Amino acid sequence: MNLAGKRVLLIVSGGIAAYKALELIRLLRAAGSAVTPVLTRAGAEFVTPLAVQTLAENTVFQDLFSLTDEAEIGHIQLSRAADLVVVAPATAHILARMAAGLADDLATTLLLATDKRVLVAPAMNVRMWQHPATVANLATLRARGVFVVGPEAGEMACHEFGPGRLAEPVAILAAITALLAPEPRAPDPLAPDPLAAPPLAGRHAIVTSGPTQEPIDPVRYIANRSSGRQGHAIAAALAALGARVTLIAGPVTLPDPPGITVRHVETAAEMREATFAALPADIAVAAAAVADWRVARAGGAKIKKTASGAPPILDLVANPDILAEIAAPGPNRPRLVIGFAAETENLAENASAKRQRKGCDWIVANDVSPATGIMGGAENAVLLITADGAETWPRMGKEAVAGKLAARIATHFAKS
Ligand SMILES: Cc1cc2nc3c(=O)[nH]c(=O)nc-3n(C[C@H](O)[C@H](O)[C@H](O)COP(=O)(O)O)c2cc1C
Repeated sequence: MNLAGKRVLLIVSGGIAAYKALELIRLLRAAGSAVTPVLTRAGAEFVTPLAVQTLAENTVFQDLFSLTDEAEIGHIQLSRAADLVVVAPATAHILARMAAGLADDLATTLLLATDKRVLVAPAMNVRMWQHPATVANLATLRARGVFVVGPEAGEMACHEFGPGRLAEPVAILAAITALLAPEPRAPDPLAPDPLAAPPLAGRHAIVTSGPTQEPIDPVRYIANRSSGRQGHAIAAALAALGARVTLIAGPVTLPDPPGITVRHVETAAEMREATFAALPADIAVAAAAVADWRVARAGGAKIKKTASGAPPILDLVANPDILAEIAAPGPNRPRLVIGFAAETENLAENASAKRQRKGCDWIVANDVSPATGIMGGAENAVLLITADGAETWPRMGKEAVAGKLAARIATHFAKS
């Protein structure tokens, strides 16, 4: 990622994840961006100003009423001199203060005075994250055009489990890159025009995610190992760029991403129905691992073992091909239809053939051989196939893949 010449104002607020801000600073510097760090009073309880300053290779600002700082660079100037303002980690407290428009310390004064885009990376205990006050504050900030990356679900420092964990520094870096350095150069959908709407504002995106479960009888089903992590991350990344997102989620253990309409389904038939009910849309991303087959006559009663011990014979029939159907020409076809190809051999060849066969615009192909650990794992190594050819992306977190794909989608719409 190349952020040469960019300037990020990084506000580190007082959460246990503040130590990860040090890694973010390191990544930003490695990508060529200048970093101006600001620590809240609570932030300085978790990381030392010296560590922040050393990694940022820049003065750390902490005090609104510092005569020295104010003489060197006034707080208004500080809030304007950056290309992007990032709050990572963003505590529940700073989100509340931002939503309320408070300016009671240097960080919130800068946030109120800035004319630049703002990206927040929330991190907090799951109950704090799910509290109606935080949910309302996030909705207020999103509606004002603040960009949000994460949080992720997982085990927390407080040993609770759920959403609230800071997005990984590489995912935050990907979101920063999507906001600062879209590809290709012109026209630039994310140009630093502070008053411009987010690049996908006004667009509707449908994203399918997760596996489907095809019943054999009331207690058994056919399924696959998809976790939904990639599809859910794409839904969140598109929403972060301003799209209205409808997520059609198969059975997953992930929480619903906030600010997104989610339809929960189990079978391929239900997923198809929910997908078509969500039309019209500008973008369709078919990331779900839809079962190819279902049992022809799923039993209404549990199949019993027979006295002979002979196993039952299950007749399979093909499931609807949601991707091919949505990509078929017609008045309701989304302008950009993106399919996923999970392959275990001849990745490029099979994925290119799938793009042609299904009639979709792009294919995101990944190698799901067990050795890669991609199916159900946290990382992905992607080959993006478009009409212009194939592009290999390095292995990275699924959130980073989602950020990069969302940025590509924004660029596509800006060009067309
Ligand atoms: C050990 C410890 C860990 C904390 N971790 C978090 C956290 O992860 N997220 C959060 O929102 N608040 C957390 N808090 C509470 C904040 O530090 C507190 O709300 C503070 O006022 C935030 O100030 P700031 O937003 O100005 O940085 C934590 C507090 C303590 C004592």
